[in-house]
Amino acid sequence: MKQKEILLFGATGQIGRNLIRKLTNRNYKIIAVTRNIHTAGYILKTQANPGYLELVELKNFQNNKIDDLFQKSKICINLIGILNEKKKDEFKLIHSDLPALLSKKSNDFQLDKFIHLSALGIEKVADSNYALSKVDGEKRIRQNFQKSVILKPSIVYSVDDKFTTKFMSLLSTLPFMPLYYNGKTKFSPIHVTDLVDIIFKIIENKYNNLVLECVGPEVLTFKEIIQKLLKSINKKRILLPLPLPFAKLTAKFLQLLPNPLLTEDQLKMLKYDNCKSENFKNNYDLGYIPKKKFEIEINKYSYNWRSGGQFSNQVDSNKSK
Ligand SMILES: NC(=O)c1ccc[n+]([C@@H]2O[C@H](COP(=O)([O-])OP(=O)(O)OC[C@H]3O[C@@H](n4cnc5c(N)ncnc54)[C@H](OP(=O)(O)O)[C@@H]3O)[C@@H](O)[C@H]2O)c1
Repeated sequence: MKQKEILLFGATGQIGRNLIRKLTNRNYKIIAVTRNIHTAGYILKTQANPGYLELVELKNFQNNKIDDLFQKSKICINLIGILNEKKKDEFKLIHSDLPALLSKKSNDFQLDKFIHLSALGIEKVADSNYALSKVDGEKRIRQNFQKSVILKPSIVYSVDDKFTTKFMSLLSTLPFMPLYYNGKTKFSPIHVTDLVDIIFKIIENKYNNLVLECVGPEVLTFKEIIQKLLKSINKKRILLPLPLPFAKLTAKFLQLLPNPLLTEDQLKMLKYDNCKSENFKNNYDLGYIPKKKFEIEINKYSYNWRSGGQFSNQVDSNKSK
């Protein structure tokens, strides 16, 4: 059977790695773009059979080389995203200017589809630069290319994530865990394989011109998530509600770290629930029912953070991955 070519940006991240495994198994050929083939590309080399994965290093997306990649692709998927800015206007560059460029190229080269990963609940957050840049990116994509599918997931989790793994590391080492907004903010965590199944169905079906919220099967408060993580790593910690002025002050300092645990911008996002809304269709409306439950899934990898586990006393588990 002839391979179908997919151009994938942000392939080395949590969602990208899992998506590559699924797509290459189903006879798609992936052209995976990364900024550094040596530091990031090695993660990908084992994810697909020979001939199904081409790694391309691209540091500057304005480069002419990008046109050759679009020329030979049928579908473009953009998974590039950042959680905090390392330089001024980086949110705008990554979440708005880059998706605008990729959707324009998808239009110019008459691709079948452009699939973009945005985020859930960002419309409500008028004072976060992360949210504003993601909303602006969505708007520019819709203007540039009609055959675009914008996916808006709640928290995406797995052993490859920067969420459950980071919190399990923190909970292993800190004597207490601060709760922002009393831990009442709600989330609908979706396991990465459930999200990848949704992306796969979007690729296989005729969907385009669609904005879709992607949520898991449960609604959990931040406090419930922390309690489930603690139970899973078999540890007890004090959960400490942090008054907002104090939370803002700690975020001001924490965001100075190279990989900040919390920024002022993230604190603003945490104020709002991260669950499906009435404003867009969601995966349930299209009959895509997520199967994986949070507590069952985290139990499959949390042993690393239990006493004696590989990461049980390590603040940043990503360092050793
Ligand atoms: N994970 C979640 O819980 C979640 C929730 C909602 C929305 N999303 C969205 O889903 C998308 C994928 O998420 P993910 O969790 O897979 O992300 P991730 O693991 O953080 O991966 C992000 C990818 O973006 C690329 N990247 C990072 N900074 C970049 C920069 N300055 N310039 C160019 N490329 C850069 C990296 O590629 P290289 O280093 O290889 O170049 C990396 O592979 C993102 O847009 C994210 O905002 C994720």
